[in-house]
Amino acid sequence: MVSPSSEQVNAGWLADSRMITAFLVAAARREPLRRGVHGPTDALRLLDGAGDGPEFRGLFVEDYSGRWLALTDGRGPTGPPAWLREAMAQAPTPARSLYWKRLDVREQPAPVHVAGEEITAPFEAVENGLRLGIDFAAGYSQGVFLDQRDNRRRVRDWCAARPGAEVLNCFAYTGAFSVAAALGGARTATADLSRRYLDWARDNFARNGIDPGAHEFLAGDVFDWLRRLLRQGRAWDLVILDPPTFSRPRGGKPFQAGRDFDRLAAQAAELVRPGGALLCSTNYRGLDRGGLRRMIHGALGRGWRLDALPMGADFPGDPYLQAVWAERC
Ligand SMILES: C[S@@+](CC[C@H](N)C(=O)[O-])C[C@H]1O[C@@H](n2cnc3c(N)ncnc32)[C@H](O)[C@@H]1O
Repeated sequence: MVSPSSEQVNAGWLADSRMITAFLVAAARREPLRRGVHGPTDALRLLDGAGDGPEFRGLFVEDYSGRWLALTDGRGPTGPPAWLREAMAQAPTPARSLYWKRLDVREQPAPVHVAGEEITAPFEAVENGLRLGIDFAAGYSQGVFLDQRDNRRRVRDWCAARPGAEVLNCFAYTGAFSVAAALGGARTATADLSRRYLDWARDNFARNGIDPGAHEFLAGDVFDWLRRLLRQGRAWDLVILDPPTFSRPRGGKPFQAGRDFDRLAAQAAELVRPGGALLCSTNYRGLDRGGLRRMIHGALGRGWRLDALPMGADFPGDPYLQAVWAERC
């Protein structure tokens, strides 16, 4: 093996120290987000790929209450960069752990430990005062999608301005939108195919001092539930639709966000009371910018006011998440 020359070692060190400096600038820019709105935030994206500089292309770093998760989408480094370990102690809010994960929806790898404390149990993160159970051992997803933070806050504020509001959260995962609505005073119904995620959602309610028994949890296929709820004559002030890109309902036609969101939105809109709203969102990258808004507009027609919602300040890179707030006039 040929040992690197002292020039090569120096050049590597210089490159690393430049990366650390640029990373620390990106992390420092996010510090104000930690103050939060209804309470503090300690779950946020510290680095958003090329959005924080071309040298970070394909590399993302998320902070979950001091546990960093570095991610690559395949265009970034093939393993956790060494400089990131050094940055852990130097960051404005230092990290206690570093984990690494490839963003690969097919293989769905779980995060692997890189440095610092090993995480041996689920822990709690907080977002604008909302407490969420996080589990790095849960598989590909850790319990919350950070890119929805501003939308959750919007849901909470909207509900707080409408005492007695009722909210139906479809494709709810761990129920973060439902908890946001409940913290705003709403009565919620949380629907997901997975009973395990619904249990996680109940736990998130309890973490926030809300009795899950005072809320509904609907296990099963959302497409079935929407039909059933309509037949029962139920109605909601706010319906949230954040489906996966692809879903195969039992015995039904496969759902593809890029093709079928309009059909889903039209079905859900029938459950929205006058003066109510529909929140639609997708991270399907095959839709061009404004594509979701056009689909929802086509599905709802007149009588609805539509707003496209931007991504949060910690996501300055690719605006892959499209969200549309539709209010029924
Ligand atoms: C993208 S995640 C939703 C994220 C969630 N809205 C949030 O903000 O945290 C997709 C969720 O949809 C659920 N899901 C997928 N297909 C479904 C179906 N046909 N009916 C009900 N839930 C479904 C999955 O179990 C998963 O929890």
